Amino acid sequence: MNEYDTFDDGLERFVDPAEGEERGDPALRPRNLDEYVGQARAVENLRVYIRAAKARGEAMDHVLLSGPPGLGKTSLAHIVAEELGVEIRPTSGPVIERGGDLAAILNSLGPREVLFIDEIHRLNRAVEEVLYPALEDFRIDVMLGQGPGAQSVSIDLPRFTLVGATTRAGLLTRPLRDRFPIHFSMEFYGADELAEIIRRSADRMGIDVTPEAALALARRSRGTPRVANRLLRRTRDFAEVEGSGTVDPAMVKLTLDRLGIDDEGLDPMDRKILETVAHKFDGGPVGIDSLATAIGEEADTIEDVYEPFLIMCGFLQRTRAGRILTQLGRRHLGFPAPEGKLF
Ligand SMILES: Nc1ncnc2c1ncn2[C@@H]1O[C@H](COP(=O)(O)OP(=O)(O)O)[C@@H](O)[C@H]1O
Ligand SMILES: [Mg+2]
Repeated sequence: MNEYDTFDDGLERFVDPAEGEERGDPALRPRNLDEYVGQARAVENLRVYIRAAKARGEAMDHVLLSGPPGLGKTSLAHIVAEELGVEIRPTSGPVIERGGDLAAILNSLGPREVLFIDEIHRLNRAVEEVLYPALEDFRIDVMLGQGPGAQSVSIDLPRFTLVGATTRAGLLTRPLRDRFPIHFSMEFYGADELAEIIRRSADRMGIDVTPEAALALARRSRGTPRVANRLLRRTRDFAEVEGSGTVDPAMVKLTLDRLGIDDEGLDPMDRKILETVAHKFDGGPVGIDSLATAIGEEADTIEDVYEPFLIMCGFLQRTRAGRILTQLGRRHLGFPAPEGKLF
């Protein structure tokens, strides 16, 4: 276990919002569209857009990728550049502090290259202002000099493709969102897709995994490839130290029990959220800020990382008045069914 894998309360964290690609395993990242499992709609459409752009010798249209962490946004951005046969220039919203920083990056792009801005919803206003004309007209306006003698000079850029990634498309300003002709919102992966990802990762890492074990891990991976790969690594550790080295269903069960991951793949933090809504707020509705305070977690993290999956499972509902624990959620926590209701 490393320092990034730990909660303050000592629990291991599987869906870590802070995990950047540098901490992931580059060896496991899919390298082209054929290796990219799932997200069929995005993949099939991108194939067409990439081929068309290449055939015309033009830059591809700008693409926005949105969805919870670990679903493959960064991987897909790199694949787009790879398939276009151009360089990718990766950066991220919080890193670009001033308009001038972005202008410098834009000015360094070659023709048809890919600029990848991760966490694009965190760009500040001044930087966004520089981005708009770059996206639309492939030019930047730079101020030369100061005071009354200052002059605005327009610099032409080569045509390029912006790939933006965000955990929350809803936080993008309208003008920015409108400047992406292509938008894919990434979906949670099915168990079969995750099992395939696990088998491939196991191959690359030289781990012996039985097909049943791959599927069992897949079912508890929160629909998320990054989680699937992490669980695979942990299971290998247990299999090597406490088993024969082979990842089989018994080793999967042992590992998941030790990590506190339940049958639906919920980890201790997921359950803490549901239990807090149940016990401290009578099942809700509870506002996100009150919930965050009660749990001791950032509201953003709950919204970006945990909630989407709990909502997808039907355990939690988001209403105008706040978050509500559903009957399904109650049942998952082991509450008895209410009078007159049959499950
Ligand atoms: N479609 C996919 N097929 C295979 N592996 C994937 C896929 N999507 C993600 N992964 C794996 O999960 C890891 C996390 O994906 P990443 O692209 O960093 O997600 P995001 O940027 O959305 O947080 C990758 O390093 C890769 O190993
Ligand atoms: Mg990413």
